[in-house]
Amino acid sequence: MTVVAKIGEVPNFGKKVVSVSGREILLVNIKGVIHACENECPHQGSPLTAAVVKEGTISCPRHGYRFNLSDGTCGDHPDFTLKIFPVRLEGDDILVDLD
Ligand code: FES
Repeated sequence: MTVVAKIGEVPNFGKKVVSVSGREILLVNIKGVIHACENECPHQGSPLTAAVVKEGTISCPRHGYRFNLSDGTCGDHPDFTLKIFPVRLEGDDILVDLD
């Protein structure tokens, strides 16, 4: 696992993009639970930086597909799955498993 940010850098109900090994990872804080996903929609590649997060899902700003932040599934279009990365907190550090 790789340290990608400090918990204080991702506000509650906020997001932060980090670059790790040439990949853009989007961190999302939902009531202190950090989720990590690729910052690229699997539909047509839109960045998810401006996406709306609601009830455990993230909605792509481009066409509105909603992805489950726990497993990346898309209830609207099951052919598309968002890559989700395992996250662990150690003290103030956010660690992400990028494999
Ligand atoms: S690019 Fe994300 S839903 Fe189309």
